[in-house]
Amino acid sequence: MSLSTAFGVRMSGIASAVPDRVLTNADLERILDTSDEWIRQRTGIVERRVVDGERESQASLAMRSLRTSLDRAGLKPSDLDLIINCTVTAEMTCPSNACRIAAEIGATPVPAFDLVAACSGFVYGINVGESLVRSGRFRTVGVIGCDLMTQVVDYEDRSVSILFGDAAGSVILRRDPDTQRGCLYQAMGADGRGWHSLYLPRRAREIPPEDADNPIRIGCLRMHGREVYKFAVNKFREVIEDALEKTGLKVDDVSQFVCHQMNVRIIDAAIERIGLPRDRVRINIDRYGNTSAGSVGVVLDELRGDGALREGDIVIIVAFGGGLTWASSVWRL
Ligand code: UT7
Repeated sequence: MSLSTAFGVRMSGIASAVPDRVLTNADLERILDTSDEWIRQRTGIVERRVVDGERESQASLAMRSLRTSLDRAGLKPSDLDLIINCTVTAEMTCPSNACRIAAEIGATPVPAFDLVAACSGFVYGINVGESLVRSGRFRTVGVIGCDLMTQVVDYEDRSVSILFGDAAGSVILRRDPDTQRGCLYQAMGADGRGWHSLYLPRRAREIPPEDADNPIRIGCLRMHGREVYKFAVNKFREVIEDALEKTGLKVDDVSQFVCHQMNVRIIDAAIERIGLPRDRVRINIDRYGNTSAGSVGVVLDELRGDGALREGDIVIIVAFGGGLTWASSVWRL
């Protein structure tokens, strides 16, 4: 597939940040009516990372990751000309955490905004950032995906709380003279008719009638797990097949399939249904749980650390989540 644009885009400075504190299934067994066996079998999760809410925030974890991204890309904060912070767990909606991050790292007055697309957030952010660089309007965009899901789950709700953890990932998207480098194809979608499958209500009046008797606290995530599961399994296959078809790529041309870590059974179903090679689908949900917008960046950073992302490689990145939303991004690195 050939791209007729004036600029290419390099994905550099791949980084991630996770809190130090580990919450194991055994820890959850002590506070919930659950078991290590149930959690492993139904989700593949063994442990997850949890912030200390007194000391850490979405902005601080996101900033840690972005600083590492800048170091790895050999850049200063003032080299950025846009910051996109993808999250559903910012402390406030105004100001955006992106503005506070920009100020804290010394990048003002760059434009900065939060992007809300739940678990698809980081892939939405990469697609938006790449398009802005490729258009020639921006040179250097910092994209962060970071969620502190443990701050918005009710630890009395065993069906939701066991799934989630906290993490951040980030990349720097930079203008590159090679026009064939960057995003070869991207797709994003949303179907708000399914919003009530996964939502974070701020007020009781926003709760739909079918959930009126649900005792989960206001301000905590409500989820109809089976509906989200079904959506994700079908969409996973659809977006990967669409990406392959639109680019003319074959599974063998792709060196890594980077997937949002929702539930190992969802990833396994995709591997089997599409016929993806297991050794090119990184799974780390066992160690981090589902970290929403953080997960794709953590997978990318692991692959980077292992030397599994080489110049010229083709990588397909996919995510799905609340909204309902989905996104894919096919890259030539
Ligand atoms: O990024 C988007 C975020 N959301 C997701 O990724 C969610 C996708 N969905 C899922 O991953 C799965 O639906 C879950 C892991 C959330 C649940 O797994 P499931 O196989 O769909 O279980 P279920 O909700 O159908 O529940 C089966 C049983 C129920 O008991 P009964 O009614 O069969 O007696 C639940 O009460 O398992 C029970 N259960 C638990 N048991 C032990 C639910 N949660 C737990 C638990 N420990 N933590």
